[in-house]
Amino acid sequence: MARDHGFHPVRITRVVEETADARTFVLDAPWPYRAGQFVTFRACGALRSYSMSSSPDADGELMTTVKRVPGGLVSNWMLDNLAAGDVVEVTRPAGVFCLRDTSAPLVAFCGGSGVTPILSLVKSALATTRRRVRVLLANRDADAIIFRSVLAELGERHPDRLEVHHHLDVLSDFVTETQIRNFVNADTHADFYICGPAPFMDLTERALREHGAGADQIFVERFGSADASPAEQAEQHEQAEHDEQAEQGRAADDGASGDAAADGPREDGTVTIVLKGKKHAVPQHPGETLLQSARRAGLAPPFSCEAGNCATCIAQITAGEAKMRVNNALDDDEVAEGLILTCQGEPVSADITVVYED
Ligand code: FES
Repeated sequence: MARDHGFHPVRITRVVEETADARTFVLDAPWPYRAGQFVTFRACGALRSYSMSSSPDADGELMTTVKRVPGGLVSNWMLDNLAAGDVVEVTRPAGVFCLRDTSAPLVAFCGGSGVTPILSLVKSALATTRRRVRVLLANRDADAIIFRSVLAELGERHPDRLEVHHHLDVLSDFVTETQIRNFVNADTHADFYICGPAPFMDLTERALREHGAGADQIFVERFGSADASPAEQAEQHEQAEHDEQAEQGRAADDGASGDAAADGPREDGTVTIVLKGKKHAVPQHPGETLLQSARRAGLAPPFSCEAGNCATCIAQITAGEAKMRVNNALDDDEVAEGLILTCQGEPVSADITVVYED
């Protein structure tokens, strides 16, 4: 039986001002969830996923925290327009950036609003386990720190188990790999959680790997604070398309000079996409996801994370087969029923048809 990935009207109970540019939206949504998960909002004609800052083990309400970002279409609209009593369209909680059953220390690295899912994880780890919890939280300056007092309060309640280190860029520039390794120190057997701006996450993950952490110890939430405007997304997609065409041009040139012409891109089979009841067909391009094929057909299907996490790009396969590169959102039954994350699905049959829900 497929889970509910649809949007639901949810009332905002209250709005809490956390910093000058971050607010917590308390939602009247009595849904079960796990610490570290997110909900996806549909607003301004776009979809955006935001992590919960609340913990199901420590808070009675479901809360998500949103920070203003330059050009952030949905984030900025939410901050400027939403108030208590307003109704928003939201999916049920989803995501796999969660605690696992272990007694190993939890060591978290977060930057800016990346603290949101980390706070959720920290609260649950403190409430339900005896694990030691250590957090390195990077911010531009002291005024930008979200949840400073909440973390301080937790530290007072759990002085032997919680350590929070604030890194301020204005005082000591950006976090370095050496600082990451020094913070880990002897906790090389910990579970590591990372959320923040992409360069911060890349640097942290690299430092952890060089410090000996295994891939199974590192958990990364890549979209928690992302909010690109449609214009930025269109620009990215256009750039990707341009790169792809350039790549094809290079391959064609190689073929003309007699090298491996048979290995160049080829059109092989058909991808048929049904969106809003209308059928569109494009030639299949090897290595292209169903979402990319839909865009190449000039369509604008739903998507948000493009990382296999949020399920907003979900569609039903009605003919043919596809495999997903990453699937952190659909369970085995849903996959068996033919549901697919189109941002991750690559056709493995010559012809394939996918139908987006209306
Ligand atoms: S867009 Fe999030 S899973 Fe595909």
